[in-house]
Amino acid sequence: MNPRGRYPPGYGNAGGGNTGGNPNYYARNPHPQQQYVPRNYAQSQQQQYVPRNYVSNRNQMGSDSGPSEVAKAVQPDGIDSSSQDWKAQLRIPPQDTRYKTEDVTATKGNEFEDYFLKRELLMGIYEKGFERPSPIQEESIPIALTGSDILARAKNGTGKTAAFCIPALEKIDQDNNVIQVVILVPTRELALQTSQVCKELGKHLKIQIMVTTGGTSLKDDIMRLYQPVHLLVGTPGRILDLARKGVCILKDCSMLIMDEADKLLTPEFQPSVEQLIRFLPSNRQILMFSATFPVTVKDFKDNYLPKPYIINLMDELTLKGITQFYAFVEERQKVHCLNTLFSKLQINQSIIFCNSVNRVELLAKKITELGYSCFYIHAKMLQDHRNRVFHDFRNGACRNLVCTDLFTRGIDIQAVNVVINFDFPRNAETYLHRVGRSGRFGHLGLAVNLITYEDRFNLYRIEQELGTEIKQIPPQIDQAIYCR
Ligand SMILES: Nc1ncnc2c1ncn2[C@@H]1O[C@H](COP(=O)(O)OP(=O)(O)OP(=O)(O)O)[C@@H](O)[C@H]1O
Ligand SMILES: [Mg+2]
Repeated sequence: MNPRGRYPPGYGNAGGGNTGGNPNYYARNPHPQQQYVPRNYAQSQQQQYVPRNYVSNRNQMGSDSGPSEVAKAVQPDGIDSSSQDWKAQLRIPPQDTRYKTEDVTATKGNEFEDYFLKRELLMGIYEKGFERPSPIQEESIPIALTGSDILARAKNGTGKTAAFCIPALEKIDQDNNVIQVVILVPTRELALQTSQVCKELGKHLKIQIMVTTGGTSLKDDIMRLYQPVHLLVGTPGRILDLARKGVCILKDCSMLIMDEADKLLTPEFQPSVEQLIRFLPSNRQILMFSATFPVTVKDFKDNYLPKPYIINLMDELTLKGITQFYAFVEERQKVHCLNTLFSKLQINQSIIFCNSVNRVELLAKKITELGYSCFYIHAKMLQDHRNRVFHDFRNGACRNLVCTDLFTRGIDIQAVNVVINFDFPRNAETYLHRVGRSGRFGHLGLAVNLITYEDRFNLYRIEQELGTEIKQIPPQIDQAIYCR
């Protein structure tokens, strides 16, 4: 049971907002208060589909039985990677049969086997359910393997993580017990998610992966670094801290990956990133990935990646699978409007963005009072609560999540088919990343923006900057546009 009482911060009531403490706790068990499990098969009336990740996630947590006869018969560690029929022995998750757009299907037709990857890495890739590389993976994997610096731009949810994790895992020499790759990300939750992806893809390799972020015990990280670490994933401040203390040795780190690179180059992070680079050898390779590269990244690029290989798969900016609407409302009508949306939409899971911590907590309270299940998350919560909310929401313990821009970038929850901007964002990058939390890997999704009189110019400007159309919400929305 939870020692912090019936509703810890993030679980629908608005009593949270703790800032003190420094726990290092990553909850594994679903919370006992969970109201609703949307992905428990199709009994729920609102349930439209069962995402592929449902089964694969549950198996990773070890909490469900195997998905197929093959999986029941073969233990993962029992696979003989040298045998001719290694592929037949893999635990492949069930195919995701949902509709996918050209954002991920317009490939050159490469196969993962074309890249001469280690057999054990291929096994992890296929067991993650990846059949063939997505467009950004086709472009970046072979180039990254050559050692070239890369600046890569591709749409949200199109597989950038594996586009850098696969070459990183391939290049690591597992017999050399030094840190060889660092992956920098801007938020703790994204660090946890990315390290999990590395662990899954590298499941059959003997690569030691460590994740380190603020909000956890520094002492534990220092102890961990006395053991071998090949790949380090984390947020810049904590890694810099460890490097300065001389416990995180980066002199042999030949690859630095900056995910959400433009965010890492905002004033909040850039000084730490640049100081960190000084700990790396001069011949290091830098890979920068994001869906957005505003002009502000140019100076950094010129200084640190003078001749990068540039990949830009964004001739248009917004995802093909996401339909965007706005509803013109007064501030005081917003909750009522949200209530109407909840009653009308087929929400598998939703993420609802507010522009401040305070508004997140207030809205979560209102939503709970309206009788809908909801979690909330923001950066002023204790890290253990953040981890618990993230973990439980990902596992489908609740249908709706209210959050700040903490969850705007990189967070990948396949079951999210609706994003609601309860508060409209201030800039186009934030808008694009928020909306990209639905429609993952080319799937369909819906974005609804509540627009007040004050937001009207912003709406117009963002539409112009993104070259996209945000239509007025119709009285009825056809389910086929976001639930197939
Ligand atoms: N080759 C593939 N085949 C099938 N699914 C894939 C493949 N590559 C990635 N995916 C899945 O696509 C989803 C989105 O991937 P990922 O999080 O890497 O996107 P992203 O491009 O980093 O998005 P964002 O810009 O929002 O960070 C993940 O659930 C991932 O497992
Ligand atoms: Mg990403």
